[in-house]
Amino acid sequence: MSDAPRPTAIRVSVAVVEAHEPTRERIVSLLSSGATPFSSLEELTSRLTGTVPVVAVLGPSCADDPTLAVADRVVRKYPSVATILIVDELTTTMLQHALRAGVRDVLALGGEPGALAQSVQRLAISLDQAARTPSPNLPATQAQIQDEDDLDDDADPEAGSTRSPLAAYSSEDVRGEVITVFSTKGGAGKSVISTSLAVALAQRTDKPVCLVDADLQFGDVAVMLKLSPHHTIVDAVSALDRLDPPLLESLLVKHDQSGLRVLPAPLEPAFADQVGAAEMISIIDLLRTFCEYVIVDTPAYFNDVVLGLVEASDKVMLVAGMDIPNIKNVKIGLQTLRLLNTPMEKLMLVLNRANSKVKLDIGEVERTLQIKADVLVPSDIVVPQAVNKGEPVVTHSPKSGVSKAIQQLADEFVPVQSKKRR
Ligand SMILES: Nc1ncnc2c1ncn2[C@@H]1O[C@H](COP(=O)(O)OP(=O)(O)OP(=O)(O)O)[C@@H](O)[C@H]1O
Ligand SMILES: [Mg+2]
Repeated sequence: MSDAPRPTAIRVSVAVVEAHEPTRERIVSLLSSGATPFSSLEELTSRLTGTVPVVAVLGPSCADDPTLAVADRVVRKYPSVATILIVDELTTTMLQHALRAGVRDVLALGGEPGALAQSVQRLAISLDQAARTPSPNLPATQAQIQDEDDLDDDADPEAGSTRSPLAAYSSEDVRGEVITVFSTKGGAGKSVISTSLAVALAQRTDKPVCLVDADLQFGDVAVMLKLSPHHTIVDAVSALDRLDPPLLESLLVKHDQSGLRVLPAPLEPAFADQVGAAEMISIIDLLRTFCEYVIVDTPAYFNDVVLGLVEASDKVMLVAGMDIPNIKNVKIGLQTLRLLNTPMEKLMLVLNRANSKVKLDIGEVERTLQIKADVLVPSDIVVPQAVNKGEPVVTHSPKSGVSKAIQQLADEFVPVQSKKRR
């Protein structure tokens, strides 16, 4: 993170656009910090000045193609406006149409009570940061051109003599396995599990293993592994048109203890916008040409980057905490994945904090989710201890039940007996 003093108050307006008055009032009531109601997008647009960032929550009456086309034009014209769509029922088609219209999040009206407020807050922070940081406010192409200039071959010390020996792997016919770790609930344990699994896999194989932090706004993989990155995924995106395995490898930061390579998330949430689904997939595709495993940590909601990753991955590891809100959210997440025609063979389920003390029956959870848990990770104080020390739990407390469960997960990919023989 930058050393610059962080702003405290967020100057972002929230608008609710919905033609049906009772629904409009219901949406406004879900936003405890207040919102200005509008009955149409036109009414909102007539009030936009482009100076104050606005999170516009579009109600179900906006969930049709003509209105989404208007919303698309509005966000293109005003980069300081971000939209969230509320729908009566989440369908694949609706999700795709909304994301194509630049909508940043899609939520079901009857969904979890706090979800809308959380989504609005996330976007508000991102817009506020963007408004205070001059360069990301440039249109994407302009910002990209500037970054590319910065990375000119002559000026770039990493493009040439310092290219790493990893490049040797790119000549082999490697097509690394991509494992995306996802959950529809914040704090479920995605980052703890993805970092420890990635470290365990890196320790088991001689070939490179890479962990990508696709939680672009609030990624904390680098912090969890106590790394000080010089480059992030934003640099990879800026150099995308000439990115090859050696250049990409030079942007990765190494976790010395395990040899794991990490592509960290942007250092500021405002830069997240520079990484779209297409850019993410290009980077993953390049990584899998020289890495045996590419593990991807994600944010706790569906966006176009996550949808792209789910499609591109060989395995999607769903992490669910053992409480009712977690299970409910994961069920909704699973429904969405099914709607998106995600092959069920791709899915793995990790039940985190699965202790008898939590009084939730695992069999019942599996029946509710209609999927069997691959691994049960117990709750243990060693996890926050390891996190606070910036160490993966598998090396911090290798004998703990949590580490054993994560090693069991790694067995699914590299059985212990083939350790270092690959
Ligand atoms: N098995 C566990 N036992 C004890 N604590 C745990 C366990 N798993 C996770 N935690 C704690 O929960 C916190 C949240 O975990 P983590 O950051 O991995 O969740 P996340 O799903 O990545 O969250 P976010 O959605 O915010 O990215 C961690 O700081 C950790 O201390
Ligand atoms: Mg996380």
